[in-house]
Amino acid sequence: MKGIVFTEFLDLVETKFGLEMVDTIVSNADLPSKGIYTSVGTYSFSEMLSLLVNLSQETGIAIDELLLVYGEHFFTVVENSYSSFLREFTDPIEMLASIENHIHVEVRKIYPDAELPTFNVLEKTENTLIMIYKSSRSMHCFGLGLMNKTFEYFNSEATILVEKIKEDGTEVKFSIQRNG
Ligand code: HEM
Repeated sequence: MKGIVFTEFLDLVETKFGLEMVDTIVSNADLPSKGIYTSVGTYSFSEMLSLLVNLSQETGIAIDELLLVYGEHFFTVVENSYSSFLREFTDPIEMLASIENHIHVEVRKIYPDAELPTFNVLEKTENTLIMIYKSSRSMHCFGLGLMNKTFEYFNSEATILVEKIKEDGTEVKFSIQRNG
């Protein structure tokens, strides 16, 4: 997992809960990196999981809820650092349908070792999109946060139904309906 995912996560934890919380979760998690991340480095996903588990224990907030908020925050990272991706699109459904065959393909050119999910489009109309998320990392709630912000970015609204195909969240169906 890329360092930017860790540095942005710890920045968000600091903003929401304070520097002391960052110190607590980093020292409670047994991290090979010792919690020192550079945005261009690559670190094990198990470090992220360990930080999330510890933050969840300290705050009482479920991991999926933490991932949702982090996904919403990560959209601002995309806006600030990868705005060229967003400028290519005028429609949120077109953008979300392009993750697999365009956006994440470009991401992989920048970071050849990125650990990305797959999003397979099952059905697409002007106002609906059904996609299957698959990833061993079970970060579908992070994806939901990004989707929410994608609609907001285009001044649009949607209802997004999330159904687990596999109980552990490694395979999830997203049914997206644009409302306005
Ligand atoms: C992961 C970039 C859009 C869903 C990632 C990672 C990067 C990235 C750098 C981390 C890879 C790693 O740590 O190895 C981008 C950029 C986007 C974009 C630049 C520009 C628009 C989206 C959108 C979604 C999405 C719109 C919506 C669902 C995900 C998910 C992961 C991820 C769920 C977590 C990894 C996993 O589940 O296995 N993306 N992404 N991304 N991205 Fe994107």
